[in-house]
Amino acid sequence: MKGLILSGGKGSRLRPLTHTSAKQLIPVANKPILFYAIESLKEAGITDIGIIVGETKTEVMKEVGDGSNWGVNITYIEQEAPLGLAHAVKIAENYICNEPFVMFLGDNLIREGIKNFVSKFQCNKPNSLILLSEVDQPQHFGVAVLKNGKISQLVEKPEVPPSNLALVGVYIFDKNIFKAVNRIKPSWRNELEITDAIQWLVENGYNVEPHLVSGWWKDTGKPEDIIEANRLILENINTKISGYVCDNSSVQGRAIIEKGARIINSIIRGPVVIGKDSVITNSYIGPFSSISNQVNIINSEIECSIVLEKSIIKDIPSRIDQSLVGRKVTITSSSSKPQTLQLIIGDNSKATVS
Ligand code: TTP
Repeated sequence: MKGLILSGGKGSRLRPLTHTSAKQLIPVANKPILFYAIESLKEAGITDIGIIVGETKTEVMKEVGDGSNWGVNITYIEQEAPLGLAHAVKIAENYICNEPFVMFLGDNLIREGIKNFVSKFQCNKPNSLILLSEVDQPQHFGVAVLKNGKISQLVEKPEVPPSNLALVGVYIFDKNIFKAVNRIKPSWRNELEITDAIQWLVENGYNVEPHLVSGWWKDTGKPEDIIEANRLILENINTKISGYVCDNSSVQGRAIIEKGARIINSIIRGPVVIGKDSVITNSYIGPFSSISNQVNIINSEIECSIVLEKSIIKDIPSRIDQSLVGRKVTITSSSSKPQTLQLIIGDNSKATVS
């Protein structure tokens, strides 16, 4: 069995971060989201993995390399434009070469991994096995209808949901999916939709079965989803302090403080991750925060937030909460009059002052 991770796409809902970087490389608990997908596949015994790449291919290839860090073989498949999830499957046909494969959306996180999911496919041998999760607001998702234990229909973002079973971004297909993706037509948004391809399988008599996830899963398409995913991952970290914590500082609860990081006159209240060579001075870093490498935080308070590499946060009078701060960002304050806000913010940014 092979793996196919989708790491192309536009990432428009994550601008401005995705103006300069691939959304799948945004770190959650200081690890790129994409790495969690590779690890899930490896854990399920899948070592031949194709990665669909688009505009951000150079960056993805640089970070992931040939897969040897994980003991897997990575092959990159270029998608000329984000023409849909089923289009990504279509262009992977030569690579997949008649084998069954797990398709994993590169911006999705599944806590329990996919071992049981893969075993069920190998045991039942359906034509397709679809990962589903019960959700509170099915109208925001692709939803599956079940009949006699099989999937009988898929509906995209239904106004009146026929069930509360949402499609999670992981699927297993056998070679028949290539017939489907070659027969369906682009949707109103001009994309080849994977839900249409699966519906084609159902309507043409192929066996499409469901598999329910029991733990949490997260589609990290929007900033608030990334902050929430970060909280969920940090809930399970164990303390490891490899950096320096001065005598006047205190580390409460579980914290990972990486090599070269320095905590000076500060309070760290976990769960928290502080990356390599970051310096926290006279500050408070509260629960569910991930501070990347080479970040400098001085005289400030942060909670439940993500701060990416090489950013500087200095002398901020109110606590920064539920925030996603990009790379090489500077946030400072000045005591000089007049008291104004002075902003240089990129396109599609969001700033809330209260
Ligand atoms: P989406 O989140 O559905 O799409 P997107 O990445 O374009 O984001 P947005 O809606 O904010 O503009 O994509 C799910 C995953 O699949 C994501 O990792 C990107 C990837 N993808 C491809 O690789 N090729 C594609 O053609 C599409 C649409 C998505």
